Amino acid sequence: MPPTFASRMDRVRPSAIRELLIYGADPELIAFGGGYPDQSLFPIDELRGIYDELLRAEHADALQYTTSDGLPELRAAIAERLRADGTPATADDVLVVHGGQQGLDLVAKLMIDPGDTIVVEDPTFLGALVAFNPFQPRYATVRIDADGLDTDDLAGVLRAHPGASVLYTVPDFHNPTGVTLSLARRRRLIELANEHDLLVVEDSPYRELRFEGEHVPTLRSLDTEGRVVQIGTFSKILAPGMRLGWMVASPDVLARLGLLKLAADTQSSTLNMTAALRFLQRHDIDAHIDRVRAVYRGKRDTMLAAMDEHFPPGVTHTSPDGGLFTWVTFPGGFDAARFLREVAVPDAHVTYVPGEPFFAGESRSNHARFNFSNVSKADIVDGIRRLGERLTERTAPLVG
Ligand SMILES: Cc1ncc(COP(=O)(O)O)c(C=O)c1O
Repeated sequence: MPPTFASRMDRVRPSAIRELLIYGADPELIAFGGGYPDQSLFPIDELRGIYDELLRAEHADALQYTTSDGLPELRAAIAERLRADGTPATADDVLVVHGGQQGLDLVAKLMIDPGDTIVVEDPTFLGALVAFNPFQPRYATVRIDADGLDTDDLAGVLRAHPGASVLYTVPDFHNPTGVTLSLARRRRLIELANEHDLLVVEDSPYRELRFEGEHVPTLRSLDTEGRVVQIGTFSKILAPGMRLGWMVASPDVLARLGLLKLAADTQSSTLNMTAALRFLQRHDIDAHIDRVRAVYRGKRDTMLAAMDEHFPPGVTHTSPDGGLFTWVTFPGGFDAARFLREVAVPDAHVTYVPGEPFFAGESRSNHARFNFSNVSKADIVDGIRRLGERLTERTAPLVG
């Protein structure tokens, strides 16, 4: 007999993205499914120099426990970067966490009682649903278009769910759709949050990866009542394996998040925090980010051009100004998960993430998320062409 697990485990399921890993053994496979950065861009030499130096007796404090909120100098360095981005912050406003994903877990612990209503975009980041689900929320979903979350729809959703306590949003180069929230909507979102007494979770791991277009102020910088918790990460600008992210929030919120962080894992890795700090002190991370952006921009251009050339009419994609993903919409009635299993993997040797698990509410089967950061340009062209040929055969009857 299995043990009787807590009822929250009813909502804990393997993620659809993990299931894609079973296809990993096919040597011909071109994987547009993951959300990984291009690891050839990791600053290996610089990091080796730093870790080498830290792993010496005179730097043994890098292997010691430290304060649970994070190394004070790293918190200060993160705050300085936030200020350079127009977001007011001091070291005291920053909590270092184990990647942005831990931020989502901590905010869920802080805010969600079973049955509480959480407002999320439709679709939303799957990893957020995975973090929130064990706390047994209900979800209310808000439409999203090329300008991000639709604040007119949000107003209606909040009227229909007066008890909603949290709004979770990915305003910059959204995962999975790639779209960015416009400034006018950011302002309106803050007004609505104030009116409806919401805590806003601004999850922005891709913010630094802008390829073009205007810089849009963070929600946290527009916040007038200390309602925005901003989550950031080194995963996409340095290396995700270091598992370093941060949260910025008003003092009463941050203090409670700090207590939850202490309970969860005592602190983030002293070694990795020290290494990240040294990297920021010694190397020009903005120059590094510029290199990463130039490569991803080229890959995005390649992917969108290949989709325009090879996908049949009736299959559309978003045009992200940054980040790692584009979101594809197939004709109504098309089942992207089934096509993946029956055609894309066995015939085209291509994977993507079918859109269904990104919908917290009613699921739609005719979408997919495509990643362009972790595939070479040659493979992008080849994979999109192979997929386009099969799609042309299969979708022609649907688009008539
Ligand atoms: C929207 C969003 N939030 C949070 C994360 C978590 O990233 P990490 O825990 O590596 O910082 C990701 C990772 O892909 C993401 O896409």
